[in-house]
Amino acid sequence: MKRVIKLHFSPNGGTKAAVDGVAAGFAAKKIVEIDMTVPANRNMDWTFEESDLVLAGMPVYSGRLPAISAEIFKKLEGNQAKTIAIASYGNRHYDDALLELTNELSNKGFRVVAAGAVVAEHCLETSVAANRPDVNDQAKLQEIAGQVKAKLEAGNNQQPEVYGNMPYKELKATPTPTGNDTCDQCGLCAKNCPTEAIDFSDGRMTDPELCIYCARCINICPKGARSTEKLAGTKQWLIENCGERREMEWFL
Ligand SMILES: Cc1cc2nc3c(=O)[nH]c(=O)nc-3n(C[C@H](O)[C@H](O)[C@H](O)COP(=O)(O)O)c2cc1C
Repeated sequence: MKRVIKLHFSPNGGTKAAVDGVAAGFAAKKIVEIDMTVPANRNMDWTFEESDLVLAGMPVYSGRLPAISAEIFKKLEGNQAKTIAIASYGNRHYDDALLELTNELSNKGFRVVAAGAVVAEHCLETSVAANRPDVNDQAKLQEIAGQVKAKLEAGNNQQPEVYGNMPYKELKATPTPTGNDTCDQCGLCAKNCPTEAIDFSDGRMTDPELCIYCARCINICPKGARSTEKLAGTKQWLIENCGERREMEWFL
């Protein structure tokens, strides 16, 4: 392979960490990073080559890909680039998201040669799967990279069977975080919102049409001023039901 391309949407860094972990296992001379969390990158056309190896990472939202993935895939042209699909999820389950990612990539002309669901810190309750992918995960990701390398060197470009159901789970309506009165209008959330949903002149206001509930604003607010009505209940549910460590799952 000429280039290893890290392509990801990662508002809270978990998906990027999973992609980086796989990339570390390919000692490639040329590594390119395309961060789809940056709005400007989603407005560009991206064309790949058959000789590329693409590591494509997306987070799991309610067992599906985030709705913004349609906007991301629209601008990609795979041209049979060999691709590893990576879905990061917060230790509950990935349900249909990895299959959806594999299918979407395949529809855009990528040749998916491996697919993995990797546990990452839950961005809605960061005590669940805290600091994952951790050192054990990183070691496993490098091991997987070695297995994919061996598969490709053996001339095997077959797309694996990936866990998931069709029709996919129904997309869930999501709440929209807003700021409370402790918001001091520092603008950090507005500057960092991946969908530019937060009003620069009043950080308490969020456009529900644009917000995808990625939780980045909640996690980066220095005042802890951003939340939703449902968040406390979700946090409690995650703490009670998702504490037991799950491991990543791979399909090669
Ligand atoms: C709206 C929403 C829904 C989520 N749904 C799931 C889920 O169904 N299963 C799960 O295990 N984690 C779920 N998560 C957790 C994320 O998949 C996980 O934290 C992921 O690593 C976030 O990626 P990022 O760190 O790149 O933003 C959800 C997170 C959000 C914001």
